[in-house]
Amino acid sequence: LKVAVLMGGQSAERSVSLATGTQVLNALDPEKYAVYAIDTATGLAQLPGEASPLVGAGGASVTALTQLPQLEKDGLPDVVFIALHGPGGEDGSVQGFLETLRIPYTGSGVLASALAMDKARYKLLCTSASIPTPAGMTLKKTESARIRKASEEIGLQLGYPVVIKPCRQGSSYGTRLVKAPEEVAEALKDTFRYDTTALIEECVQGTEITVAVLGNDDCVALPPVEIIPKNEFFDFEDKYSVDGAQEICPARLSEEDTKEAKELALECHRLLGCRGMSRTDMFVTDDGCVVLETNTIPGMTPTSLLPKAAAAAGISFEKLLDMLIGYAKE
Ligand code: DAL
Ligand code: MG
Repeated sequence: LKVAVLMGGQSAERSVSLATGTQVLNALDPEKYAVYAIDTATGLAQLPGEASPLVGAGGASVTALTQLPQLEKDGLPDVVFIALHGPGGEDGSVQGFLETLRIPYTGSGVLASALAMDKARYKLLCTSASIPTPAGMTLKKTESARIRKASEEIGLQLGYPVVIKPCRQGSSYGTRLVKAPEEVAEALKDTFRYDTTALIEECVQGTEITVAVLGNDDCVALPPVEIIPKNEFFDFEDKYSVDGAQEICPARLSEEDTKEAKELALECHRLLGCRGMSRTDMFVTDDGCVVLETNTIPGMTPTSLLPKAAAAAGISFEKLLDMLIGYAKE
């Protein structure tokens, strides 16, 4: 089977995607797959700091995404493995391109990807399905009058503390925990570096967990992973440094809470119309689970959560990749 791995890309999560892609390349079984590695930003797949093009596990050639149609003579890839995160890779655009080329790809399609990438629209959808999410409001970069009075409006609508984040971004880039009105302006400035819309949410208290789901229409939830941040919240450093947040799988939850969390993750997967995989981040509070977001291309770096949850369910990383490729072809 010819597999093209798309990685890198141009979003802020480029380095995370290169780490995910590298893990995937190293784990795809060369006996089963002929692997191409493609960086969608440069046209080559390269590791940061390395001069030579990265070559797939099978020693296969490296081809630019834009040249995919020209692969026709030795055959288009049978499956594209999308190891991209954030806008341009996880938001439906690459998925639409591959739909047009009629090449099967891992993970969700155009609509589910786009809905999950936009946290405000995602929230609307959850609300319509009675899935609890934190109270929130949005603010656009162009709304200068509202931005000037944002700290007041936040105080009235939500109260402090709040979390201010870009609407369409991942890995906590541009995300800040804001405890007092005087911190709002600086936080918004940071958020607007990443997106033209900021999402401002109440800060939920409880146990932070994430629940991965595997499959298409017929899907299963993996054991919840509990997150104990080292920093004030589960930020970039906590997510990706080896001595970052403590992560416990299965999460130390009651049987009832575990069941509720898994059911919610499955509901989110189905509500969005996800395929292959998803990972829904949530808090377990005294009043039940509150959903933060669903990721359609969860990180698969050495410190990421989906591979941990899979391992806890007895699914090796190699097997996980086989399953995702299988779902892509269903
Ligand atoms: N956005 C990162 C990759 C994650 O959710 O794992
Ligand atoms: Mg995310």
